[in-house]
Amino acid sequence: MQQAWPFPFLIAHRGGGKQAPENTLAGMMEAIKQGYRAVEYDVKLSADNLCFLLHDDTVDRTTNGNGLAATQSWAALSQLDAGSWLTEAFANEPLPSFATIASYCHHAGLASNVEIKPCPGREEETGKAVALAAQQLWSNQTTKPLLSSFAYESLVAAKAAVPALPCAWLIEAPWPEDWEVKLKAIDAVSLNTDEALLTEARVKAVKDAGYKLLAYTVNDVERAKTLQAWGVDGIFTDELTLMQKAFS
Ligand code: G3P
Ligand code: MG
Repeated sequence: MQQAWPFPFLIAHRGGGKQAPENTLAGMMEAIKQGYRAVEYDVKLSADNLCFLLHDDTVDRTTNGNGLAATQSWAALSQLDAGSWLTEAFANEPLPSFATIASYCHHAGLASNVEIKPCPGREEETGKAVALAAQQLWSNQTTKPLLSSFAYESLVAAKAAVPALPCAWLIEAPWPEDWEVKLKAIDAVSLNTDEALLTEARVKAVKDAGYKLLAYTVNDVERAKTLQAWGVDGIFTDELTLMQKAFS
């Protein structure tokens, strides 16, 4: 029997937030070490269609390589150092495959919010590929991952490929007046929004319509408390230690 996504209030952004290299296994381990029950991470496709974790379109900022991720094979990407850019303590931390991270999350009991982050022009195929990979990787798990994306086209493709996986539409400014129509059309369970777009009235409207509401990226304790008081279900944070202390 499938269990609903758990929606803990604190979600570790990109795995380890600011405290470990983003979108790496070391990041997921940091989240566990700090008592987090859920992580968010970004998944895209290599040139040869392997699902792996990376935020940007290029590897320049977070690895020792350069160039577009979309043009590089997994064999090449998996050799890069994705840890040294943060500190030498994480030297040689690799870019992880989606399969590696899924396996660690199962083992650690971490819930996953998988953000589908397509390379430009690959929205539909990435949505489909990530959903099919998630279906297979979580086949023996009762709690499925929550799939989200800014790319609505990716979510439509993901939902068409694997209707049973819960999904969330991710938004940035401007606030879309048709949010309810858009959520309904893909049978979403949640709206995941830039925290700066939230007002008490908007939170109430989304909650009254029956959706969960998650806010990114909240690194200020007072703001997090205000959002929680308004009824926001969860926040993505880079400040793992600070938030855990404030909310435990
Ligand atoms: O999924 C929430 C948040 O990660 C969205 O923004 O740019 O950090 O992927 P970004
Ligand atoms: Mg993200």
